[in-house]
Amino acid sequence: MSQRVRGVIARAKGAPVEVTTIVVPDPGPGEAVVKVQACGVCHTDLHYREGGINDDFPFLLGHEAAGVVESVGEGVTDVAPGDFVVLNWRAVCGNCRACLRGKPWYCFATHNATQKMTLEDGTVLSPALGIGAFVEKTLVAAGQCTKVDPAARAAAVGLLGCGVMAGIGAAINTGGVTRGDSVAVIGCGGVGDGAIAGSALAGATTIIAVDTDDQKLSWARNFGATHTLNARNIDVVDAIRELTGGNGADVVIEAVGRPETYKQGFYARDLAGTLVLVGVPTPEMTIELPLLDVFGRGGALKSSWYGDCLPTRDFPMLTALYRQGRLDLDAFVSEEIALDQVEEAFAKMQTGGVLRSVVLF
Ligand SMILES: NC(=O)c1ccc[n+]([C@@H]2O[C@H](COP(=O)([O-])OP(=O)(O)OC[C@H]3O[C@@H](n4cnc5c(N)ncnc54)[C@H](O)[C@@H]3O)[C@@H](O)[C@H]2O)c1
Ligand SMILES: [Zn+2]
Ligand SMILES: [Zn+2]
Repeated sequence: MSQRVRGVIARAKGAPVEVTTIVVPDPGPGEAVVKVQACGVCHTDLHYREGGINDDFPFLLGHEAAGVVESVGEGVTDVAPGDFVVLNWRAVCGNCRACLRGKPWYCFATHNATQKMTLEDGTVLSPALGIGAFVEKTLVAAGQCTKVDPAARAAAVGLLGCGVMAGIGAAINTGGVTRGDSVAVIGCGGVGDGAIAGSALAGATTIIAVDTDDQKLSWARNFGATHTLNARNIDVVDAIRELTGGNGADVVIEAVGRPETYKQGFYARDLAGTLVLVGVPTPEMTIELPLLDVFGRGGALKSSWYGDCLPTRDFPMLTALYRQGRLDLDAFVSEEIALDQVEEAFAKMQTGGVLRSVVLF
């Protein structure tokens, strides 16, 4: 059996997204069907539409979601129909070399649904990040459902499913930000502001927000930025050094995904500092750096996939902090939109004016 529901697909490179009928199979062994309540629009969805991730069109977009489990397949015991869950793209396997070494956040064999969602003519869809959640109901691996406090607002906690978690984790898990640190965050969208909020939670005393958009910088202050820099009219490296006693920041987080901002981050960190790349580059981008500087400046150059998070550990914990008023997830939600407004949300993402548009069902 299967169900027919409405969802948003990207049919071809660069073409506007469209709302169409999606065929969702009943859950098989180890799978779950989730009734989606809210799904944020992440820059990675736009990367997919532009062919920047891979060419496996058509994509079923959306991956930052919360909803309620509708049905589960054989052998599923961790979640049951009626559970309120945030969807994750890191359902760890427990058996790969990373899991076996006790570092499951690096899992190399994460689970997705085995069956495929399709168009009515049978065309197989590629779900964004193995989720696909701009759709009324989605089929995922049961391990992609993480139970959280059902009293939480779906539009807010759904954002933990990707961008906000990626940012918070880039700071705390990958960057190791701790009490008294100085941090600079380049790019203050949903991901960068997550990194700012994470740095504040971890006790960083200097948090420098860098963006090209003044509106973004004023929002960054609400998440805990102590200083803001508009990158349009200054030398970003000099300005960050100036704000950190001439030294550079202990941790710099690049949340744009471009060679020039990565280079700024590389030189804006203190000697022995850490640079975290959480922004996603496109395949044609390259970077050139004097090898002597890579060696001589010491420290660490790290990349952060999904903020090195472990959903079972991090989603309930961050939901608790949200419910206690210590993490303002509501402030990430700029607008609530309908399923047929995703294309408009992509446009706003590029022209500014929103942090996160969230599709409500
Ligand atoms: N690593 C991961 O697991 C992960 C997860 C989610 C998203 N991402 C990636 O993170 C990046 C940010 O995502 P987002 O959803 O926050 O995007 P966004 O578009 O909301 O934010 C990007 C921000 O960067 C700013 N910016 C652009 N050029 C700049 C420059 N030269 N200097 C300073 N700021 C600049 C923009 O004004 C904007 O505020 C994207 O590349 C996205 O694909 C990575
Ligand atoms: Zn594994
Ligand atoms: Zn995302």
